[in-house]
Amino acid sequence: MNKSIHDIIFTDKPASVLEEKLLGLQPSRVAVLVDENTKKHCLPFIEKALPHDHVLIEIESGERHKNLNTCIEIWKALTNQAFDRKGVMVNLGGGVIGDMGGFCAATYKRGIRFINMPTTLLAQVDASIGGKLGIDFDGFKNHIGMFREPDSVIISTIFMDTLIDREIRSGFAEVVKHALISDSMHFEDISRNLWHKQNWHEVVPHSVTIKENVVIQDPQEQGLRKTLNFGHTIGHAIETHYLNHADNPLLHGEAIAMGMIAETLLSSKKCGLSQDESQSAISYLMDNFPLERIPEKFFDAIINLTIQDKKNRNGKVLSTLLQKIGQCAFDIELSKEELYWAINEYNRKISAK
Ligand code: GLY
Repeated sequence: MNKSIHDIIFTDKPASVLEEKLLGLQPSRVAVLVDENTKKHCLPFIEKALPHDHVLIEIESGERHKNLNTCIEIWKALTNQAFDRKGVMVNLGGGVIGDMGGFCAATYKRGIRFINMPTTLLAQVDASIGGKLGIDFDGFKNHIGMFREPDSVIISTIFMDTLIDREIRSGFAEVVKHALISDSMHFEDISRNLWHKQNWHEVVPHSVTIKENVVIQDPQEQGLRKTLNFGHTIGHAIETHYLNHADNPLLHGEAIAMGMIAETLLSSKKCGLSQDESQSAISYLMDNFPLERIPEKFFDAIINLTIQDKKNRNGKVLSTLLQKIGQCAFDIELSKEELYWAINEYNRKISAK
């Protein structure tokens, strides 16, 4: 059952908030899911809130571990500890930990309660909000999963100090996306500065509010929530392709920034986005993100991957495009030729820089 009211707390004292939430939930036992990075850098911030008999489950970091094998490890760890249905799982980490930990919690013994403590910017402003849980499967991202809201999401910018710049910048792509699809004033505000000069204490809650407003209206992505996929039709396909084929996979936000440029170009072609606004969105993206030229030999594979997008219907590629900065339309059909054109134009734009 999806809860429509989200319990999202912003705090500089994550341990105190966690302690309070656990007190409210009265769990029989607490499990904490971490990876090697969050165990080292983030767990110390919350350890004092954990009961002495908590179960610590450590998995390897990275998207390539977001799969069924790792879920089996997590379910086994819970089972070996005789974790019962009154237990609570705390997911301490980025998008992989949140999505997969939530998925494991939501399926273990038909579902136990869980709290998300997102530690990356990307997870704070996007992945931990809105109840999308899941794992990658057979080369496709988030292919197996479900919607279910965590009992609480505890967001602390304290964890941002534990991140490398590349991770912060990747998360910033989702901040820019939220502004472009629904808040032109916010785009104006953030675009006064590059990513590393943002005031995260303001930017994170604002970005979360944008997403939450969308999710509350359309929790299961029947319509409006598709707008959150701006940049993802092409961006997700690029990310998946690089994950499966390149030695150095792109981070999610890096691929989404590339996708947003391609889809901004399509927005002018198909949805009336003015040249001025298109230019200002694209310039800002180009100033902030490390953009890779996409080799032509990848075009067909990337375009084929767009067909697997979960927003599609009847074999048609459906995307979200901007009408203005701060306003967008969803379910816009894209042909293979248009996708090819957009990726080609993207290459042309970034080469001209
Ligand atoms: N990341 C897009 C969504 O949560 O719907």
